Amino acid sequence: MDEEQKGLAMSVADVIRRRRSCRAYRDEPVSRENIEQVLEAARLAPSACNQQPWRFAVVTDQKRRTRIIEEGFRRGIPMRWALKAPVLIVIGIKRSLIVHRAAVTLTKIDYPWMDIGIAGEHLVLQAEEMGLGTCWIGWVKQRRVRSIVGWPRDITPAAVITLGWPESPEAPPNPRPRKALEELVTWLPDE
Ligand SMILES: Cc1cc2nc3c(=O)[nH]c(=O)nc-3n(C[C@H](O)[C@H](O)[C@H](O)COP(=O)(O)O)c2cc1C
Repeated sequence: MDEEQKGLAMSVADVIRRRRSCRAYRDEPVSRENIEQVLEAARLAPSACNQQPWRFAVVTDQKRRTRIIEEGFRRGIPMRWALKAPVLIVIGIKRSLIVHRAAVTLTKIDYPWMDIGIAGEHLVLQAEEMGLGTCWIGWVKQRRVRSIVGWPRDITPAAVITLGWPESPEAPPNPRPRKALEELVTWLPDE
């Protein structure tokens, strides 16, 4: 992002349109202040019954990041690019006994997964506004990652978000394709 762009606040619509998954990072740390700012955006997310089941582990140490990437991701998808991200944020789920476990049994809807998706995307969009790049990684080995970040058994790692300064500050020109609204939306007639 150039100096002129930095001075202009982006609208939410601009942030959403600009965001891409970033898989190439500059070799430059992200300040603790910046990391706290993106975490704050996640903290403010809505959640079912306001349970706030998300937990975050911030991993900046290179050895621990490498262990997460080399041991904590399932094989099959190339993930070596993630070694260059200076920060990994592991998002975990801490379930409450009544609201989460009973609700899943009754409704078959797993609210904590929805909740952490919303919180994670708050984080991603805040990062985008700050010129930081992110990429969700969902292909995690839960037990392995839990042990690497030192979480107790009642917190389940659900995803990792890479965070760092993008190699190229410009939004990549070719966005991944999206389905057309006509394919996604059913407009119901007035009764
Ligand atoms: C829940 C989730 C899991 C994802 N897991 C991975 C992953 O394991 N590896 C990866 O490179 N990208 C991953 N992605 C990024 C998607 O591939 C990407 O969002 C999608 O292709 C659309 O591209 P865009 O984000 O650049 O618009 C994930 C995204 C989400 C939301």
